[in-house]
Amino acid sequence: MIRGRIIGTGRCLPDRVVTNDDLAAIVDTSDEWISSRTGIRSRRIAGAGEFTSKLASGAARQAMAMAGVAATELDLIVVATISSEIAMPSCACLVQMELGAARAFAYDINAACCGFTYALDIADKYVRANPAMKVLVIGAETLSSRTNWEDRNTCVLFGDGAGAAVVTGDESGRGLVHSRLFSDGNLWNLLYMEGAPSLNRELVHGDGCGSYIRMNGREIFKYAVRAMGDVVTQVLEESSTAIEEVRLVIPHQANIRIIQSLMERAGIPPEKIYLNIDKYGNTSAASIPIALDEVNRAGMLASGDLVLLCTFGAGLTWAASLLRW
Ligand code: UT7
Repeated sequence: MIRGRIIGTGRCLPDRVVTNDDLAAIVDTSDEWISSRTGIRSRRIAGAGEFTSKLASGAARQAMAMAGVAATELDLIVVATISSEIAMPSCACLVQMELGAARAFAYDINAACCGFTYALDIADKYVRANPAMKVLVIGAETLSSRTNWEDRNTCVLFGDGAGAAVVTGDESGRGLVHSRLFSDGNLWNLLYMEGAPSLNRELVHGDGCGSYIRMNGREIFKYAVRAMGDVVTQVLEESSTAIEEVRLVIPHQANIRIIQSLMERAGIPPEKIYLNIDKYGNTSAASIPIALDEVNRAGMLASGDLVLLCTFGAGLTWAASLLRW
C-alpha cells in the first residue's frame, strides 16, 4: 500500500523572545498565573519583515534540504494558516515565489490549530493517487498580528512560528497509517477571528471591525480534552495499535493542563508526550510541525517508530494521525 511519508522536516521561529514578565508589564497578569494555568514561559513574536510567508519559507527550506528535494521538484505546496500577511493570494503562492518552486501549484487551508494535521492528510491523499509527487506541507502563523494586546485572556497564550514537512509516496509500510479528522461548525463562536472590515453589514459587529482573536477559554478547554481524547482512542482502535506501541505522542501545544487531562482520558503515559509549550506558547497550525522537527532533529525517532499527532482548534476542529516514521 502506498502512503504519504515525511522525508524532511524544518522549522523557523522569530528571534524575539517575549517572556511572561514582559507581558505582565503590558496587561494585568503574572508569570505565576500564566505558567501555572498554561505551562507557557515564553513565546516568539515576529518583528519587522518576519511575515507568515517568510517564516513558512524558512521552515520549508530546512525541510527541503533534509529531504534532498529542490524547489523545482515540488509539485504542490499546501500552507495551513489563519494569519497570512495578506488575504489574497494565498500564503502558499507567496512561499512558491520565495522558493522559486515554478512547477508546483499552491494553496492555503484554514483548519485553525488543526491546519497542519489536515494538510498532511491532504498530502497523503495526493501521493496515494500519484506516489511520485513531492508535496510541501507547512503550518505557519504570526498570530501576534491578530492578537488583542489588551486582552489578558488571549494575549498570553499565542506565539509565532512555522514548521514544514516534505511528503512523498512510500510503499514500504512507512508513512501515514491512519487519520481521523472532525469538525463541528455549531461551535464556531467559541473561538474566532473577524476578517478585515466587510461590506456585508450583517458581518460587522457593534464594537468595531477589529480582526483579532475572540475566545471562550473554559468551553474550549472542555471540548479540547473530550474531543482529542476520543479521536486518539479512535485512531488507535481503528489501526489496531496499543498505546504501548507508540513511540511518541505530539499533541497540539495549547495548554499543559489540556495535555495532562488528555493523557488521563486516553491513557497516555507521560514519557510518551512531547512538550515544547513552555518555549513557544500556542503557535496554532505551526505547533505540531515545529514539535515534529524538534523531535526529528534530536534523533528521537527511528525508522519504523510510530508517532501519533493529535490536535484541536477553532471550528471547532479536531484530529489525530498515526505515522510510521
Ligand atoms: O488552540 C486552541 C486555543 N485555545 C485554547 O487552547 C484555550 C483553552 N483554554 C485554556 O487554555 C484556559 O481556559 C485559559 C488558559 C484560557 C484560562 O484558564 P482557566 O483556568 O480556564 O481560567 P478562567 O478562564 O477560568 O479564568 C480564571 C480567572 C478569571 O478571573 P475571575 O473571573 O475568576 O476573577 C480570569 O479573568 O483568571 C483570570 N485571567 C487571568 N488572570 C491573570 C484570565 N486570563 C488571565 C491572565 N492573567 N492572563
